Amino acid sequence: MARKGIVLAGGTGSRLYPLTRGVSKQMMPVYDKPLIYYSLSVLLLAGIREVLVISTPDHLPSFKNLLGDGTDLGVSFEYAAQAEPKGIADAFRVGAKFIDGKAVSLVLGDNIFYGEGLPRRLSAIPETGATIFTYAVQDPQRYGVVEVDEKRNTITIEEKPDNPKSNLAVTGLYFYDSDVVEIAAGLTPSARGEIEITDVNNAYLQRGDLTIESLSRGYAWFDTGTHDSLLDASNYIATIERRQGLKIACLEEIAWRQGWIDEAQVARLAQPMAQCGYGQYLLSLIGDRP
Ligand code: TTP
Repeated sequence: MARKGIVLAGGTGSRLYPLTRGVSKQMMPVYDKPLIYYSLSVLLLAGIREVLVISTPDHLPSFKNLLGDGTDLGVSFEYAAQAEPKGIADAFRVGAKFIDGKAVSLVLGDNIFYGEGLPRRLSAIPETGATIFTYAVQDPQRYGVVEVDEKRNTITIEEKPDNPKSNLAVTGLYFYDSDVVEIAAGLTPSARGEIEITDVNNAYLQRGDLTIESLSRGYAWFDTGTHDSLLDASNYIATIERRQGLKIACLEEIAWRQGWIDEAQVARLAQPMAQCGYGQYLLSLIGDRP
C-alpha cells in the first residue's frame, strides 16, 4: 500500500512581512529554488509519489503554476485549500479524502531537512503507528518539546512550553497510519485556536504507537519562518551546493534517480532553463548516472 504525502504550505507568514505580503512564504527563494522544493523533495526521497499541496485560496494558483500536476516528474500533485490557518493537524481534515485510508506523511512547507542517509531512513518507516523526528535546538520553547525520563522514555510532548523539559524539538515531518484522519477529526482547538499536531502525537503516544527518532547533529534542520533563518538556510544551501557542485532538493534530479523519469524527460525539463545554472545542472546529469 503506497503511502501518500501532504505538504502544508499555507499560513500567514506574518513573521516574514513585508516579504510575504503578496507572495506565499513557501515561494520565498532559498538560494536557487523556491522554499517548497525542499519539503517536497523530502517526500519524493521517501519514495512518495502522490502528494497533496495545501495552501491558502489566494496562493494555491501560484503553486499549481509552479508544480503542475506532477506528470512531468512521474508523480501526482493534487491541491486543496485551507481557508484559514486552523493549525497543522487541520491538514488531515482538509486532506481526508485524498488520504483515502492510506498511511500518510506530512511535511511543513517551510521546513528544510538535509543529511546523509535520510532517504533510506524515511523509506524504512513502517506504515503502522506514528513516527516523528526530534532535533536539539537552542530555543525549544518555540516548538513542540519532548519530555523524556532518565531512561529516555518519552513521557509527553508539550506545545511551545514556557519552561521546556528538554532541548528536543519536534520537527515538521510526521509519518502516520490512516487512523490520523479520525484522530484529527476528534480534536478540539487549543487555547490559541489551532488544531494541534502535538495533540495528534500525544494521542499516538498514549496508545503506545509513537516512535520518536532523533536527527543528530549530522543533520541540518531549518524552519525558515524569520528573516534571519531564511537567510541562514540560503547561505547553508549555497555553501554546500557551491562546494560540491551538487544540488540539494532538485526535484527533477530526484525523480530521475528514483527511476520515475528518463533522461529524455530530464532534457525536456532542462530546456526552458538552459540559460541558468539550474538547467545547466540538469543537462550535466544526463549520461552521468552513477
Ligand atoms: P507557522 O510558522 O506556525 O505559521 P505561519 O506560516 O502562519 O507564519 P507566521 O507565524 O510568521 O505568521 O507555520 C508553519 C508551517 O505550517 C508553515 O509552512 C505554514 C504552515 N501552516 C499552514 O499551512 N496552515 C496552518 O494552519 C498552520 C498553523 C501552519
